[in-house]
Amino acid sequence: MTYLPVASERPEPVRVGLIGAGWMGAFHAHSLAKRIHEASLVAIADPALEVAQSLAAELGVARVTPEPGDLMSDSEIDAVVIAGPARFHAELSVAAARAGKHVFCEKPASLDLDEFARVEQAALEAGIHWQIGFNRRYAADFLAARRDVADGVVGTPQLLRSLTRDPGTGSIRNAERVPRGTIFLETLIHDFDALNWYNSGAEPVSVHVAADALVEPQLRGTGFLDTAVVTVRYSNGAIAVAEASFSALYGYDVRGEVFGSRGMVQAGRATETAAVRFGAKGLSAATPRLNIELFADAYTAELADFAAHVRAKRDGGEAPDHGVQLTPGLDDARRALAVARACLESIETGQAALVGTVASRETDRA
Ligand SMILES: NC(=O)c1ccc[n+]([C@@H]2O[C@H](COP(=O)([O-])OP(=O)(O)OC[C@H]3O[C@@H](n4cnc5c(N)ncnc54)[C@H](O)[C@@H]3O)[C@@H](O)[C@H]2O)c1
Repeated sequence: MTYLPVASERPEPVRVGLIGAGWMGAFHAHSLAKRIHEASLVAIADPALEVAQSLAAELGVARVTPEPGDLMSDSEIDAVVIAGPARFHAELSVAAARAGKHVFCEKPASLDLDEFARVEQAALEAGIHWQIGFNRRYAADFLAARRDVADGVVGTPQLLRSLTRDPGTGSIRNAERVPRGTIFLETLIHDFDALNWYNSGAEPVSVHVAADALVEPQLRGTGFLDTAVVTVRYSNGAIAVAEASFSALYGYDVRGEVFGSRGMVQAGRATETAAVRFGAKGLSAATPRLNIELFADAYTAELADFAAHVRAKRDGGEAPDHGVQLTPGLDDARRALAVARACLESIETGQAALVGTVASRETDRA
């Protein structure tokens, strides 16, 4: 039998280089190589070369390097996914933008606002698509809630709530090496974005933090924080609460809520699926344990959206229209980071901190 040729109209996939092949980078690598047709993973950079090599071998990626700069000078790469440690994100974003690569950057975009201003400048000057990994927006329930807010289902937002409880064992490995401020800059930054996104059109004005080392109380004197509650006041009068713990024994717990003049919408649930067991002792249900389980679809969807945006820029097509504000970019990264930075000031003073004042002080310094 003779097979007949098929004319393919499928556009060239976006050629992506991955920077950082650890926990999150490896998940993104699998998505790019196997789950997202609009993208192909062509190279991996990680200073821990053996980590990059083993991931590349698993996924059939031909090029590995210990040096992220090699991806910047590779003319066959359209875009990079930055998933190295947070302290390198800003300089990698700037280098990628200057090399004309589109950027998907894991959160946080930077550790402070003056450094982030350089990212913004480089990205805008280069005209690249720059996107941040606020994956929660792409989870079906969080996005449905956002659509409800946009459609007026909850009316005017009055109270908002967002929480992140990381899965834990009751003690935190290498807690003494976790940088100060991590709970705000790396964990609650997701919640700050979720709140800003839900309360769209309003600006976060002030924050007031209560935080402590309750999981690792022996580290209290070092400034380490593993538990925090943040109150955020918004320019439209709405009051929000963000809450985080580094150790929930029952698994990974992420939820959001918007309460307004006409009703309420909730996103996220503590159970892994809708299945609930009924037994002699009562009810029980499985809980999600890992971020890559709870947000597997959301992590994939954010990168598919990234690839679609890059392809539109590269090939001159239409950028995706989601019917609601979705793709998180430079403004969203800056606004969430500004809230996190204001939290650090509130911790120092014990008082409420003004988000705009902290932001202008940091960027004036630049
Ligand atoms: N969106 C989410 O839900 C989510 C979840 C987990 C982690 N993250 C973020 O992903 C990033 C990575 O976290 P992780 O948990 O994968 O960490 P990880 O420690 O597992 O992996 C980091 C990797 O980066 C490599 N690396 C070190 N220095 C580097 C450099 N200068 N350039 C490039 N790579 C370098 C390390 O060798 C390591 O392989 C962090 O910013 C973190 O906040 C996001």
